[in-house]
Order: sequence, then structure tokens, then C-alpha cells
Amino acid sequence: MSEFEATSLRDALCGTLGPSDVGRRVSVCGWVARRREHGEHLAFLDLRDRSGIVQAVVAGTLEVRNEYVVRVTGTVAPRPEGTRNERLATGAVELTDCEVEVLAESEPTPLPLDEHAEADEAVRLKYRYLDLRREPMQSHLRLRARVNAALRAAMDAQGFVEVETPLLWAPTPEGAREFVVPSRLHDGEFYSLPQSPQIAKQLLMVGGFDRYYQIARCLRDEDLRADRQFEFTQLDLEASFVTQEDVRRFVSRAVLDAAEVATGERPGAIAEMTWAEALDRYGTDKPDLRFEMALADLTAAFATTGVRALQAPCVKALRVPGGASLSRSRLDQLVERARALGARGLAWFRVGPDGLDAPLAKVLSPDEAAAVAGVDGAGPGDLVLAVADAHALACRVLGALRVELGAPPVSAGPHRYVWVVDFPMFEGLDEEGNPVAAHHPFTMPHPEDLDRLGSDPLSVRAQSYDLVLNGWELGSGSVRVHRPDIQREVFRSLGISDEEAEYRFGFLLGAFRYGAPPHAGFAFGIDRLVAIFAGVENIREVIAFPKTQSGADLMTGAPKVISERQRRDLHLGPVRPA
Ligand code: AMO
Repeated sequence: MSEFEATSLRDALCGTLGPSDVGRRVSVCGWVARRREHGEHLAFLDLRDRSGIVQAVVAGTLEVRNEYVVRVTGTVAPRPEGTRNERLATGAVELTDCEVEVLAESEPTPLPLDEHAEADEAVRLKYRYLDLRREPMQSHLRLRARVNAALRAAMDAQGFVEVETPLLWAPTPEGAREFVVPSRLHDGEFYSLPQSPQIAKQLLMVGGFDRYYQIARCLRDEDLRADRQFEFTQLDLEASFVTQEDVRRFVSRAVLDAAEVATGERPGAIAEMTWAEALDRYGTDKPDLRFEMALADLTAAFATTGVRALQAPCVKALRVPGGASLSRSRLDQLVERARALGARGLAWFRVGPDGLDAPLAKVLSPDEAAAVAGVDGAGPGDLVLAVADAHALACRVLGALRVELGAPPVSAGPHRYVWVVDFPMFEGLDEEGNPVAAHHPFTMPHPEDLDRLGSDPLSVRAQSYDLVLNGWELGSGSVRVHRPDIQREVFRSLGISDEEAEYRFGFLLGAFRYGAPPHAGFAFGIDRLVAIFAGVENIREVIAFPKTQSGADLMTGAPKVISERQRRDLHLGPVRPA
């Protein structure tokens, strides 16, 4: 233990004691992980602290139970021949001549704290403070702290300044529903909790901080999933007088530094792919490049087909290696899945030694059959899936099936990073026919496409870019609009009227009138990055106190009813009886 770590109560850590400490008299503090009585006069006690476990041999009877907090002062001694424990890092030694002082008692715990024991997640979340004592949570949160430290160091080294931005803020439109906070002093008015520091960081650019970053807490009231929580943390950054290549360079440096700290290896340079290519080859804007299974294009082969099911502007196909062995009911499920994803249908073809085996096989022309059988180098035993539809839909449906049928678990390596660039400005139309921003409304359109914002918005490219890791969207960013006229134009194309823009973003448009530098930025999810480093499927595993899928905090009971008095103060009115 370094002199910085030693305290008045302890001068060693349990898990670090070894043969080189033999003979030392040490004091350790921790929790009783296990105890075994050996007759009346001898007890063995496994003592656990954050570093691991050490065995203490105690003479006499021991008035302690599991999870009591104790301080043990003892002499480090080699374990007698034949009693060494190879599975324990400290298994060659033990503490002898021990004095044991009980610092706190514990009731029997509602979940097993043994690192190998399975525990129900609801119980883990309700007693999170106990779950945190277990090895997996200890190592995940320590990993997270190391990643944060590496990110800060990388940003500092690149000349970025950390600035904290407000949590009580005005609405920030980034696609998700917002959490709002009623104001006590302003009857009927609300703050919004920021979905990200997006507008604040742009104002920092106007304010002359030309390189800003923050490890920022963001809040979004959206449906929770394995990779989504209401509150999450971003490494958020923004810089002035830069191009998107500069921003990608800053971010790559930070992410690769963090990866090196987390995994011990520095990944190579991050690959780059256009959005259009990602969609065409992998059917998604977040391709998982750990496995190939690229989509093939059969449009030309089926251009004059007589098979109605395959008549469409585009025919895409996917080879599933070894997929010919899938049962008929599993294939039916895949067809249903494709329909649920919006396709008219899904054609499947088992590739056998003598050609295709499928309901549609008989009606294909020889050339069509040859094209199907040749998809992505298919061979006997493989399955070929085909979707005929509009290009984007056909790609997306097969892209989803590609992941469902082929993606390795999160814990499987390697880590494959990719920059996806040249996103479209809008991802489609909403119910009212207004374009929906693919990124957010502060993104600068591609200069060549500016004049089509009003007339043909869906063809406009954006100067935005995403970073993807193993099929997870890690982060996104863009070159920003810094001219008020273009910003108004973008708002208009999104169906936001000038009055509404003035009410919601007047302060931003106003700021742009006073010399806004050209700027660009990025943000990536630290929860997601650490989850992948830790090899866990759900970001809850790398968050100290997460919410459940339904947004509840099982430990505190939040969200909770507040008192009538509080409601009155906040001008919320009485609770209506159920
Ligand atoms: P975006 O909305 O893409 O961009 O968010 C950036 C990254 O934040 C993470 N993230 C989440 N993580 C966990 N739970 C959530 N609910 C959640 N939502 C987002 C993801 C995501 O890629 N202001 C822009 C960035 C910019 O343009 O600079 C923004 O927030 O990893």
C-alpha cells in the first residue's frame, strides 16, 4: 500500500498481501466474506476489501458473521505446506496472531455476495449498495473511472478546456422527450433538463472558448433499452475553426487512449465508411464489423423477373453461413420478423449440393437461380435470404436479420471501430409531412446541397458523422450551422416557424449575430463505451445506481409521490384521486 493509501486504521490491502510481506505485522480492514470454525479454538476468516481477499487465522471463538466490518491486525505468514489456495491471489499466505476488532455488524444479506453466485437483478438493484461490493461491479466501476481519467487526459493534452454547463436549462430539441422541472418562483413555468449540452457548448464557441469538453450528464425521457438509460454520461466536445476531420482526429485520440487503458492494447487507426455504403453493405448506419455477412445486390439479376414476389425497385440478399439447417418453423419466424420490420415478405433459399431447395426455387429462371446460389460465395449448407422492396427498406430489413443471425455476443472481441460519414440531413418525413432531422437541427448541410433545403430536403446531405463500435452507436457529431440565416432556413425546413424558433432558440440565433466562429463537435456515450470494454450487454452493469427498464429506481423507490405542500409550492395542483 502506498503512503497515500495507508490510513490511521489500516496499512495494507487484503488482496495485495503475498510472500514478500511475510513477517510484516499489518492492519487490514474489510468485510467478512466467509468464516470457518475449526473446533472450539481456531477459526479461519476470509476478509475482503476492494483489492481482494486474505485469510486470517484467529485463535478462540469468533463473534462475527458474514459481512461484519472488521479490522484485523496480524502477522503475514506463509501458509503451511498443503494448505495453499491456488485460486486466491493471496493464497500463499495468511494472517496469524490476529486481533480482531468489530467495526460494524451486519444482518444476513438478501443477496449472495460471492462473486460466482447468480443473483436476481431486481434484488441486486434494490440492494445496490451490497451488489456494489461484489467483484463484477467493483471492476466495472473502477474500469469506468480509468476510462474517464484517460479521456480527460487526452482532452487536456489536446488543449481542450473542461467547462460545466447547467442542468436547469431551456428545452433542447434532440429528438427525445424531455424531463422538466417545475419552477417554484415562476408559476406555471418549467426548466428542462438537458438532453445534452448541445446549445450551451455552441454558445461557449461564440464565447471564445475554442476547445471545450465536458464529461456531461444528459437526461432523456425515452424508452429504456439495454443501451439506454434516462440519465447517461457523454464525453461532449466542441471546437472552433476546425473541419470535421479535425474533430474526428480529436475524438479518435481520446477513444483510442481510453481503449488502450481499458484493454492494454491500442487499436489501429479507425476505419471510415460513408453512410450510403454502410446502409448498402450492412443495412444499418451502425455496422458491426466483427463479422462479414455483407448484403449482396440482386437487383440486376431480377430486373425482368417473372416472380411477382421478387419484382421491386431493389432486391437485396444475405448469405447466412450454415443456415440451411434452420428448421422450417425458424424460417417462418424469420419471415414474420421481416414483415414486422416493414418488408412485404422474405424469400429464403437453402443451398444444397444439387442447387436451391426452397418454395420459390422452381419458379426462378436458371440465371436467377445461379445468382441466388452465388450470393457472397454461398455453398452447400448455406441459406440465402432475399428482400425485394425499396432500396433502404430492403437493406434495413436484411441488416436487422444479419445482426440477429450473425452478431457475436458483446463479450466477444475484437473491438471494431468505424467512422460513418456523410449522413443525410433528414431521415424521412413525420406524420405532418415535415422532414425529421437525422442528427439535430444545428447540423450544417453539405455546402453543395444548401439550395435544395426547401425544394428537396430529403436529398440534402449533412456534415455529420457517427462513431460506431461493434454495432453500437458510440457517438455522433457534426459541423454546426453558425449563420443565423441558414439556421432559420433549417428550422423552417423542419416545420419550425420563425416565431417558434424565436421563442425557443432566440438566444442562440441572437448569439449568432455577434460573430459566431465556424465550429463543429461531437459527443459519445461513456456508458456504452465502458459496457463494451467490460463485455456486458446492458449499460446498467457499468452504472452505479441505474434505473430498471420501466424507469424505476428499486433502491430509493423513485419516482415517488410528493407531498401536497410541495405540489402547492410548485403550482402543480392537487393529485387527482385514482
Ligand atoms: P446523440 O444524441 O447522438 O448526440 O448522443 C450521443 C451519444 O450519447 C449516447 N446516448 C445514450 N446513452 C445512454 N442512454 C441514452 N438514453 C443515450 N442517448 C444517447 C450514445 C450517443 O451516440 N449533442 C449531440 C452530439 C453532438 O452533435 O455534438 C448528441 O447528444 O452513445
